Amino acid sequence: MKIANLEFKNNVFLAPMAGVTDIIFRGICKSMGCGLVYTEMVSAKALQYGSKNTEELLKISKKEAPVAVQIFGSDPLAMAKACEQFNNDEKICIVDINMGCPAPKIVKNGDGSALMKNPKLASEIIKEIKRASSKPVTVKFRKGFDEDNINAVDFAKAMEAAGADAVAVHGRTRKQMYEGKADWEIIRQIKAAVSIPVIGNGDVFTFEDAINLVEKTNCDGIIIARGAQGNPWIFREIGEAFSGKNPVKPTYNEKIDVCINHIQEAVKYFGEEKAVRELRKHIAWYIKGLRNATDIKNKINVQKNSVEVFDILEKYRNELNKVYGIE
Ligand SMILES: Cc1cc2nc3c(=O)[nH]c(=O)nc-3n(C[C@H](O)[C@H](O)[C@H](O)COP(=O)(O)O)c2cc1C
Repeated sequence: MKIANLEFKNNVFLAPMAGVTDIIFRGICKSMGCGLVYTEMVSAKALQYGSKNTEELLKISKKEAPVAVQIFGSDPLAMAKACEQFNNDEKICIVDINMGCPAPKIVKNGDGSALMKNPKLASEIIKEIKRASSKPVTVKFRKGFDEDNINAVDFAKAMEAAGADAVAVHGRTRKQMYEGKADWEIIRQIKAAVSIPVIGNGDVFTFEDAINLVEKTNCDGIIIARGAQGNPWIFREIGEAFSGKNPVKPTYNEKIDVCINHIQEAVKYFGEEKAVRELRKHIAWYIKGLRNATDIKNKINVQKNSVEVFDILEKYRNELNKVYGIE
């Protein structure tokens, strides 16, 4: 796949996830072989006003660069102005526009998936951004707003006509949020209808899902969100599967090692308090499915400092070693 003039070491990407895909987790996914990582969505308005929080969300490490930055908003000129700021930033290779977010607070402002109900405004946004941005511009959206408004194929064509360099499509409507099954058929239809690259998204949790998604839709790339939570190895496994190898699953020891390393890096970067709080969900995802994981999660969730969390995890490792033998 080539997005404008860009090529990647592979076409399996980490999707944007607000509150999850921070600088540390993105670096971990990249080190596991992910082809490109997206930042969490950031507000075009906040970017214009120079919000400190937003600046923080846009910090990019050497390990993960160059990344795709995702912005949301609905004022074409404000969004173009926001994107202009990235023109000389070598750590950013793509500007991605969020037209799929289903959250009520976003939709009520006319942003995110609300733009699928207003393809004219959505096109205007892409045209203005293309005028201002020297980076390739991509759009991420859904199957439609609800079952009575399934317009992803026409929407993709409109985005292509407005100048988008690629589209990423999540096969659910806004109304479905994350419920039901992602419709991959709509991704196949979009791929058949446009000439720009199409990145398929929705319900890729294993390397087998990745193979199926590509086979069923002929999409050019894949973007994974929930399947990477606590499982950055999914990128390694998919890479192995696509190159004809037998994918190697992480051992529980590897899971605990990466989890501990994730906490250590987060503590260094965000400080003790924030890291311990924010890492709770990641730790729960890393150990999900392992023996006694719920008890361990409950213990960790009441800890306030990382030394205790490490201690719980090391004791847990010893317990697992006794049960399974050292892997
Ligand atoms: C916690 C969470 C946060 C998300 N935040 C964003 C976001 O900031 N921008 C965006 O375009 N999509 C966001 N998404 C949607 C995902 O990028 C993706 O489209 C969706 O989860 C479907 O893919 P999956 O089945 O691989 O999870 C988010 C999803 C989750 C679960």
